[in-house]
Amino acid sequence: MEVVAPEDIPVGFEDIGGLDDIIDELRESVIYPLTMPHLYSGNSSLLSAPSGVLLYGPPGCGKTMLAKALAHESGACFINLHISTLTEKWYGDSNKLVNAVFSLARKLQPSIVFIDEIDAVLGQRRSGEHEASGMVKAEFMTLWDGLTSSNTEGLPARIMILGATNRMQDIDEAILRRMPKKFAVSLPNITQRRRILNLILKDTKLDEENFDVDYLTKVMSGMSGSDVKEACRDAAMVPVREYMREMRGKGADMSSVTHEGVRGIRTEDFFGRKGGDMILADNHDRHLRRQNSQKKSRVQRVEESSENEYESVEESVDKALSTASQD
Ligand SMILES: Nc1ncnc2c1ncn2[C@@H]1O[C@H](COP(=O)(O)OP(=O)(O)O)[C@@H](O)[C@H]1O
Ligand SMILES: [Mg+2]
Repeated sequence: MEVVAPEDIPVGFEDIGGLDDIIDELRESVIYPLTMPHLYSGNSSLLSAPSGVLLYGPPGCGKTMLAKALAHESGACFINLHISTLTEKWYGDSNKLVNAVFSLARKLQPSIVFIDEIDAVLGQRRSGEHEASGMVKAEFMTLWDGLTSSNTEGLPARIMILGATNRMQDIDEAILRRMPKKFAVSLPNITQRRRILNLILKDTKLDEENFDVDYLTKVMSGMSGSDVKEACRDAAMVPVREYMREMRGKGADMSSVTHEGVRGIRTEDFFGRKGGDMILADNHDRHLRRQNSQKKSRVQRVEESSENEYESVEESVDKALSTASQD
């Protein structure tokens, strides 16, 4: 378990690309009620902050990031509850631990108790499951329910349980019910990818003439935010490696090498990558092949691609090419 003060969290909403709708909703339904409860619960208990919020969606799309930013922006204390804390057999008396978590959260409130990969801790009760973990779950839920009951000033506890998962189907129904606010954090679409790319590359030197952000955004179709970040990291290494090699070749003194000499990143730097995630290289290849066959036949073919359920690169490439050939 790890307790972090909001000001020590290095992630804010401005670091997250393309999730503005979710962020707005979180502001209104979580941050305000949690930090300004008098505005909300004065007349109706219906207006208090939800005691549970779930972020779900495929890995690498910003759930953990959102959770951290939420704590940072709300000024709430962030209690990061690691799975191992609750399932560790060494603790034997895990119930005491759960109790400790809640009493700590009460002392520090407003607070957010974050459980990443919540399916692993509070997942379906399986037969053959360790008996203790079933008890931990039950205890957890009881304490959780206690959060909504009022304190001496008539206000409910300002504690929110925030879960994140990429396997919602594995979460116990009783737990799901306690997290009435559920936010889908899905793979970024083309506009979102562009925002993410711009964010990630904002401090990176670009070779403006040879850098085509539109094209990159297109071929990154199907990639998560974290894939985009990795691709950028790899691409950024290319000019550095090139420069070092050049300097070594010249027999230059390595201690005098500075980053000013390194050229900016180009579009092509994104495609030299070996290993890892191949979406980018595949999409680029497809684009090149398509471009060649179009050149040869000049026949327009619209192919429905079912491979990519988010959007078709081929389609957008088709569109781009057809407008180009019209003029
Ligand atoms: N929407 C986004 N905007 C900016 N960076 C992102 C975004 N989504 C993912 N990333 C990058 O990917 C990394 C992993 O994201 P994370 O929040 O841990 O994903 P998840 O918890 O959904 O699996 C982040 O640290 C960040 O660098
Ligand atoms: Mg995560």
